[in-house]
Amino acid sequence: MINDTKMNSVLNYVLKNAKQDDPHSVLDAIDSFVLETDTFLMNVGPEKGKLLAETIKDLMPLKALELGSFLGYSAITIAMFLPKAGSLVSIDHDIDSITASKKIVKYAGLENKVHFINSASDEAISNLEEAFDFIFIDHEKNRYYSDLLLMEKLNLINKGGIVFADNVGIFEDKMKDYFAHVRDSGAYTSKNIGAHLEYRDNVYDAVEISKFN
Ligand SMILES: C[S@@+](CC[C@H](N)C(=O)[O-])C[C@H]1O[C@@H](n2cnc3c(N)ncnc32)[C@H](O)[C@@H]1O
Repeated sequence: MINDTKMNSVLNYVLKNAKQDDPHSVLDAIDSFVLETDTFLMNVGPEKGKLLAETIKDLMPLKALELGSFLGYSAITIAMFLPKAGSLVSIDHDIDSITASKKIVKYAGLENKVHFINSASDEAISNLEEAFDFIFIDHEKNRYYSDLLLMEKLNLINKGGIVFADNVGIFEDKMKDYFAHVRDSGAYTSKNIGAHLEYRDNVYDAVEISKFN
């Protein structure tokens, strides 16, 4: 959850400091906001964002899905590197996050690439009608595993598709079932990349990048 004051401060900062239709400058402005105001924001952040961007550039997915929009930081990171015909569906159960994300993504010039759904992840997943080549999981940490199983059950992950999970280092204790599934079930080829928590160079975090076989 983000309160109204914090959301408006980020929005105003972006409008004042970022160049319209320039996704890089919008991400830079959000990062600068964190540093200048010493406010923690749970964006994927620049370090893990680079891993996310590289994955998108390598895979070039046509259909991408994100669980957890927050302020649209990762949505911009994904959408800016999608192929021309590519699109992203981004889900968040918090209406304030959806409102802020829509505004920020629009300012970045990517509104035509991103479709937001305001709903709890399991409910939204159950209503999805197309399969995805790329899925970024970054919502409630104890839902990663159950939502992944639900997406598999509903055939929402294309073969060769990639599931990219954030915060699996700092929330390692909540990832036991998730890790066992993506690493040992045979359904995925999975790798773990160590990094730092967003905006905290002294806090360990990691991402798990899993290819659906
Ligand atoms: C870590 S933030 C997402 C950050 C974003 N991916 C980024 O890097 O810019 C997590 C978001 O997930 C949302 N969320 C948490 N549990 C959820 C659920 N069960 N269904 C949908 N959204 C959820 C929260 O409202 C929050 O905005």
